[in-house]
Amino acid sequence: MKSFITLVEVGPRDGLQNETKILSANLKYNLIKKLSQTGLSRIEAGSFVSPRWVPQMANSKSVIKKVMSNNTNNVRFSALVPNEHGMNDAISTGIKEVAFFTSASETFNSKNINCTIKQSFTRLNVISKLAKKHKINLRAYISCAFFCPYEGKVQYQKVVNIAKKLVSSGCSEISIGDTIGAATPREVGGLLKKILKHVPNKKIAMHFHDTRGMAISNVKESLEFGIKCFDSSVGGMGGCPYAKGATGNLATEDLAFFLNQMGYKTGVDLEKLLKINRWLSKYFMLPSRVAKAGLP
Ligand code: HMG
Ligand code: MG
Repeated sequence: MKSFITLVEVGPRDGLQNETKILSANLKYNLIKKLSQTGLSRIEAGSFVSPRWVPQMANSKSVIKKVMSNNTNNVRFSALVPNEHGMNDAISTGIKEVAFFTSASETFNSKNINCTIKQSFTRLNVISKLAKKHKINLRAYISCAFFCPYEGKVQYQKVVNIAKKLVSSGCSEISIGDTIGAATPREVGGLLKKILKHVPNKKIAMHFHDTRGMAISNVKESLEFGIKCFDSSVGGMGGCPYAKGATGNLATEDLAFFLNQMGYKTGVDLEKLLKINRWLSKYFMLPSRVAKAGLP
């Protein structure tokens, strides 16, 4: 029997943030409720970023407040926060996990959150103190960990240094982002070999966008390094509005299918996910291949 793999569903945040159509708070809540009944144990429910920068997430506060007061499935919900303002919004909803985000690329960081990598750590220190005070778990993303749409190939050592700093700043889990879906198993293995010398595999999650169809191969490579946590998005929606050329995350349906077939346990009911996919396809074009083809 192979081991248990945790899926972090990021569709309500990463999935919806890049769609031109903006879902109402009610529809978002319905989506999150449906997802929380599939056996998914972790869901990123939205983000507390500037509505001027990402209007798709402007209703996160009301969505998350409602989600937190109706969490009957004991799901671990989280929200993305870039700064103290976002952290205070997160605290006001009662959420128990936030995800900070910085990047291994200066250019991307400044386009995405309007500050340098160094300045983002100053913001993190404030967030980390508030997280401790309010007993909120702190996760962090490193975007453009392999390739940047503006700077090209990113050096492994840069990512290792940022990951070490994030851990020492109080982050309990680091999600390594292939923001523009350009990595292949060669880069994934290359980076993991270096990073795991400094950060244990239980603190690492992988966040693959499937822009070039490499995500499942990259999951397989990560599994060989003992990684047990992967981010994915229902339907394979989304991308980052500030990463030129980024498309959706690896679809949760495709990831769950792959892991099930390979003998891993995920706790996720794939039939239920496919049902959500059919409902969601009324609103968006969804690239999930397993949902298109059905189960064999
Ligand atoms: P800024 O304009 O530099 O902020 O934006 P500022 O501090 O100068 O403040 C300007 C105004 O924004 C002020 O309002 C603030 O109150 C307000 P005003 O006085 O003018 O009325 N403000 C806020 N409002 C709401 N929420 C906040 C907030 N902060 C300030 N948190 C900021 C800086 C970080 C806010 C902005 O750049 C931003 O919101 N960026 C977010 C971009 C984003 O969400 N990108 C997508 C997510 S990252 C991603 O997708 C990658 C990932 O999936 C991993 C991967 O794939 O690699 C995570
Ligand atoms: Mg992403």
